[in-house]
Amino acid sequence: MKIVFIGPPGAGKGTQCSLLSAHLGIPHISTGEMLRSLDNESGEAIRLRIDRGHFAPDEFILEMVAERLAQDDCRGGFLLDGFPRTLVQAKAFDESLERQSQTLDHVVHLVVDANELVRRLMERSRSGERSDDSAEFIHERFRIYEERTAPLLEYYGARGQVRTVDAMSTPECVFERICAAITDGSMRQ
Ligand code: AP5
Repeated sequence: MKIVFIGPPGAGKGTQCSLLSAHLGIPHISTGEMLRSLDNESGEAIRLRIDRGHFAPDEFILEMVAERLAQDDCRGGFLLDGFPRTLVQAKAFDESLERQSQTLDHVVHLVVDANELVRRLMERSRSGERSDDSAEFIHERFRIYEERTAPLLEYYGARGQVRTVDAMSTPECVFERICAAITDGSMRQ
């Protein structure tokens, strides 16, 4: 099972990938987590960018993800949280899957009201967990999502791969909806 999760900051991509990873027994790959844990010099420059809500360069991300997906634990499938995030990434990723005669099974799109997204991120910001969760950068992250990531929904939608899920409920309820959406999506393919 190869699944991509798309949704604005705070939609619950990380939360749901973690639940689904345990359920399906396949790895949860979060490019945001990978970037935050970089510890070399180029990692420092990238962390400065992402702390302000700006994306890491496509080429860097593509190489980082390719290395991760080449690892043994990804052979049976994977859940991608935060990748692809631009059309350049999506097209390059499709080409690499095609070269291996593979395709994505589902693109799960999590939908949440803007006010609820802000509420979730502001709540998390109170725990000081993430430097990009400040009021100043949250709106920049939403703007960049709309400009650079939302167009992927049309790209994947044209291939019938998008499963839209109302993610305005409890994490447990959203998880049930995702399971139903991917089962339904598989039956229609
Ligand atoms: P990333 O870590 O992917 O951040 P994000 O997309 O901004 O998403 P978040 O982690 O904030 O939200 P989420 O949707 O995962 O929700 P979560 O489950 O955490 O990326 C960080 C940065 O790295 C990017 O801005 C970019 O700069 C860079 N980057 C990453 N990938 C890149 C790429 N491919 N190319 C270029 N740059 C890249 O939940 C959020 C909060 O809400 C949590 O506190 C959670 O407990 C709570 N919550 C979750 N679900 C619910 C629910 N149902 N009800 C109530 N609360 C909930």
